[in-house]
Formats: sequence, C-alpha cells, structure tokens
Amino acid sequence: MSNYHIKHLEEYYQVYRKSVREPENFWGEVAEEHFLWRKKWDKVLSWNFKTPEIKWFEGAQLNITENCIDRHLLNRGDKTAILFEPNNPDEEAEHITYKQLHSRVCKMANVLKDQGIKKGDRVCIYLPMIPELSIALLACARIGAIHSVVFAGFSATALSSRINDSDCKLVITSDGSYRGTKSIDLKGIVDEGLKDCPGVKSVLLVKRTHAEINFHEGRDQWLQPLMDKADSNCAPEIMDAEDPLFILYTSGSTGNPKGMVHTTGGYMVYTAYTFKNVFQYTENDVFWCTADIGWITGHSYIVYGPLANGATSLMFEGVPNYPDYSRFWQIVEKHKVNQFYTAPTAIRALAKQNISFTEKHDLTSLKVLGSVGEPINEEAWHWYNDVIGKKKSPIVDTWWQTETGGIMITPIPFVTPTKPTFATLPFIGIQPAIMDANGQEVTGNQVDGRLCIKFPWPGMARTIWRNHQRYKETYFSTYPEYYFTGDGAFRDEVGYYRITGRVDDVIIVSGHNLGTAPIEDSINEHPAVSESAVVGVPHDIKGSALYGFVTLKETGESRIHDNLRKEINQMITEHIGPIAKLDKIQFTNGLPKTRSGKIMRRILRKIACRDMENLGDTSTLLNPEVVDDIKKNVL
Ligand code: WT7
Repeated sequence: MSNYHIKHLEEYYQVYRKSVREPENFWGEVAEEHFLWRKKWDKVLSWNFKTPEIKWFEGAQLNITENCIDRHLLNRGDKTAILFEPNNPDEEAEHITYKQLHSRVCKMANVLKDQGIKKGDRVCIYLPMIPELSIALLACARIGAIHSVVFAGFSATALSSRINDSDCKLVITSDGSYRGTKSIDLKGIVDEGLKDCPGVKSVLLVKRTHAEINFHEGRDQWLQPLMDKADSNCAPEIMDAEDPLFILYTSGSTGNPKGMVHTTGGYMVYTAYTFKNVFQYTENDVFWCTADIGWITGHSYIVYGPLANGATSLMFEGVPNYPDYSRFWQIVEKHKVNQFYTAPTAIRALAKQNISFTEKHDLTSLKVLGSVGEPINEEAWHWYNDVIGKKKSPIVDTWWQTETGGIMITPIPFVTPTKPTFATLPFIGIQPAIMDANGQEVTGNQVDGRLCIKFPWPGMARTIWRNHQRYKETYFSTYPEYYFTGDGAFRDEVGYYRITGRVDDVIIVSGHNLGTAPIEDSINEHPAVSESAVVGVPHDIKGSALYGFVTLKETGESRIHDNLRKEINQMITEHIGPIAKLDKIQFTNGLPKTRSGKIMRRILRKIACRDMENLGDTSTLLNPEVVDDIKKNVL
C-alpha cells in the first residue's frame, strides 16, 4: 500500500525514507494505486544527470484528462470541479461540475481537431482567468496537443516570440479581459503579435468583454458557435507517459525565455500527490489558488493537481483590491474556502490595509494557508498566521520552480511543525543538497550554500523546447551530477531549509521571475541608450523592485531625462510587459566592468541598495573611476 495521504510526522519520516531508499517501488505504488493507466509502464525510472535524460513510467500509456475528469464522472459527476468567481462581485459565480467539464472539454477538443490540430501540435493559449482557460488546457491534453500558455499580462512582442519559439499553429484568446475597473484589449495585443507569426493559421476567440475588435477574416473565429455545434464526446488520445503535455516559458539569467517541457505521466503523479498532501485536501473541501494559470502555480495547483484528485478548484478572474481590499476575504467567506494558496507579495499588500477589511469577513472555513513564489518575510508570515489563520491554520511555505513542476520543499500541514521564513523539509522523494563555494556538497546541519537536487522526481521538466543543450548547461553543468536550482539556501540545526533567494541574475518582482538580460536588451534598443544594467533592490510589497543604470550615447541635459525614463519604460512594456518596468532609472557616465568587460552587477546592486561601505575592492576594475560618480548620483 502506498501512503498516498500522510497524516503525522512519524509517517512522513517513514515514507520519506522509503521514497529515498526505494524510489522506484515508492513511486510505482503511488502511480499504480491512484491513477488510471491504459497500459502499465515497463520501468518506473531511468535517469542520467550527465546527458541529461530522465524518464518516468516509460512504456506506460494514459491520457491525463481521463484522470482529471472521466474517472470522477461516476462518483463525482455532479460535484463542482471548477468554481469560477468573476472579476465583478455582482456577476454570478459559476459552478462547473465534473460532468459539465467533461462535455465542455470534449467540445473544445473537437473544435481543435476540426481546425486541424493533431497530437504533438503546439497551441498557444493567451486568455484571462476565465473557465475557458482551464478548459483549453484540458482540451489540448485530450487530443495530445501541447499547450503553451502565455500569461495574458505579457506584451505582443513577448507573445510572438513565444509563439514562434515553439511554432504554435493556433492561438486561443478572447476579445478582452477584466482587471478590476479596467478592461484590457487582449485581441489588439494578439493582432499586433501575430504580425510576426506567419505560422499561426487560426485564432479562436472567447467572448468575454464584448468589446469591439478587429475581426481578421479567414483567420479569426468565435469559439462559442463552434462549441455549440461540436460533439460533447471526444475519445482521449492515448499518450505515452513521456509525451510532452505542455511547454511553459520562464525567464533565465541570459538570453530568451526558456520553453520548459513537462511530460505527461510523471507530472500528473507528482502534481496530484503533492496537492493531496501539501494542502491536506479532503473530499468536499474548496481549494483556492490565487495564481494565474499563465504561471506554473496555476497549471499545477488550479488545474492538474486538484482535478486529478477530484477536487473543487476555485478560479478567480479579478484582483485583490477590486472593489476594495476585502475582495479575497469576501470570496473566502462566500465560497467557504478551506485551503488558500497565494504569494508573499499579495500578503504584504493586504497586510498594509486597514484591519476592517479582514475583520468584516468570516474566515473560519480556512484550514490551510499556502505561500509561494519568493521568500516570505517574517512580518508577512506572522500577519498571515495571526490575522488570517487565527493561529489555527498552518502556513505551508512551498518552495518550487517552473522547472520542478510541483512543490519541492514544504511543510505538510498538521504534520510538520512550521517555522517562520522556513520552507522546512523536503517533500517525499525530494533529495536536496547544499553546495559550497568549491562546488562540493556540504553535509550536516547549520550550513548554507547553493541549493541543488541530487535525484530525479517525477514532476521535473525534461528539457527546454528544442534546446536540450541549454537545459544541460543551465541546470546540470554548474555542479556535475546535480540539478542546480539557481537559489541559495540555509539548512538549520534540525534540517529545515530556508530559501535565501536567487544567486543568479534572475530578479523576482511581485512573485514574477524576471531575467535581467531581456530587460536590458529592451532598454538598449532605445536609440539614445548605449548600455544598461538592471539590478533588484528590496521593496516593501513587491519583494524586489527593479533599478536600472543606463549610460546614454550622448550625455544629455537632465531636463530630457524624465522623458527618456518614460520612453525606456514604454519600451520595456512593449517588449516584455508592464511587470518588468523599472522603478528607478539612474543615468550614468559608464558602468563598472571587469577587465574582461563583464558588467559588475554586484557593485551596482550594492550602490542601488545604498550599501556603499561594502563595495569591496573596486581598484581592479577596468574603469574604477565610474564608481564614485555612480555613488554620488544614486537615486
Ligand atoms: C523561483 C521560481 C513555483 C511557482 C512560482 C514561481 C522563488 C518560489 C519560493 C519560496 C523562497 C521561492 C525561487 C525559485 N521561490 N517559491 N517558497 N521561498 N523562494 O515559479 O517563476 O519558476 O520561480 O521562485 O527563487 O527559484 P518560478
């Protein structure tokens, strides 16, 4: 018997030991007892971190939507699968049962087939947080098409580069989207982006805002009339366990975003098993993850993990401050939410508001509180624990990444004693390692260094879309034979992990993972700019804010600087999206560089944080003279 649901600490240790000593037996049992396979695997795991090549459940066949939908129809057909709460609180919530989900997914799958989409084709999904978004993911999975969701806050340029990188044939989008009081012209952004995407032959449009749009004859079609005509049954495409399920782009410290490829069998087993345990989900609970499905958190813990467990997953279209800052708590009360999973940036923003916003709502349904996306600071942790959880709902501070597919280091609520700012213990099957400055693994406790994982887990990304070499270089080359996370970590005296933040040039702003390179590339495209460097500085709510150092081709008069700042942020908005805008832009006469010409971001980061005393020895720089000037003019 596999221990699918862990309920106390001794059990955790016992199951953990088994998962590490006999990983194949352990995961084989979990997979066998709790999922529907069309054919069993020949081998649970084969792996090699050198090439690297990782295969879970090789030879097995399945369709993930049979696991997320069909197999629940008998006993949970009338249970709510997706509970949709619209942006506007006056608009009615929608309860989509498993039966209805089945029919809508099948219909959309048939529409996709009619559009010529086949197994292995890539479909780009650029939608707001409305039910069609979840349905679109599942419709792709139903027919074996690989979905590539692009967060609907990304710009036209970011959209088109992602579409082209994975040669998507079709785009599913909507006329527009709502965000609080605003509505956003999504279709306009798609039209702009598709000017550079000759491979996209059709666009399916969901009607949401009823805004007027430009209809591109021969390419665009409204989705609903096609759905109305489509058959509500669609036989699931039988997939190999290692067939790709989706691509999801994530920023790296250099170059273009990386199209992380997740495969079918292992991802399903891992997201379902983590969901069940990390949130201690029991039948009839209402689970709410506030992330957008445009990020991995939404893929794994709004769609696949919850549905594979037959859960009710709440999906919220809006924002935390519309109509006012009580919106989250109003939803918790209205739908009697039992597990609530959000990001530290939201917690910090909400904690700053008047206490009346939380006090006026009944939060007693809450059993488990989750946090994800960046380190949660002590103050925010206590507010979440005391004000929202009333010290009764444990906080699960879950550390993981787009690349890991599911939660990796986390307390198990009611099982693992929590500790503020600590993600605590590795999840079942996860073998973390801390590496020292010489590249050696450090053993024992009370140590810090860089965080690696030394054994495969079923949810890990298998490659970067059409760039396996980059996958190898990014994750498996810094420490041979280890998966390198890019994060720093501290292991305390009892073996609890605290994640200390990125050690590379990735900056996490409001929980969004942003690489410095693409931001600098956008800045450098401004005709007046010669070069630039972007660093992160601590920010009360966003966690980190972006601070840019920009050298102009000609030192202009300061009165034009404000205009330039606007134009630079405009360029960033166009290339990446408003989330990557700089809070501060300092114009400099040069940037500090090593003798080999590499910009010393470390020094710039210290200056931006006004930590002038600890710049270290700057005399070995190529151009030490610029440092004083930059210090003097810091904003
Ligand atoms: C990076 C991954 C995993 C879904 C959301 C982000 C940081 C994530 C935590 C946490 C400290 C965290 C790490 C990680 N991060 N969760 N609980 N404590 N840091 O996915 O965009 O791929 O970002 O987010 O730095 O490497 P992502």
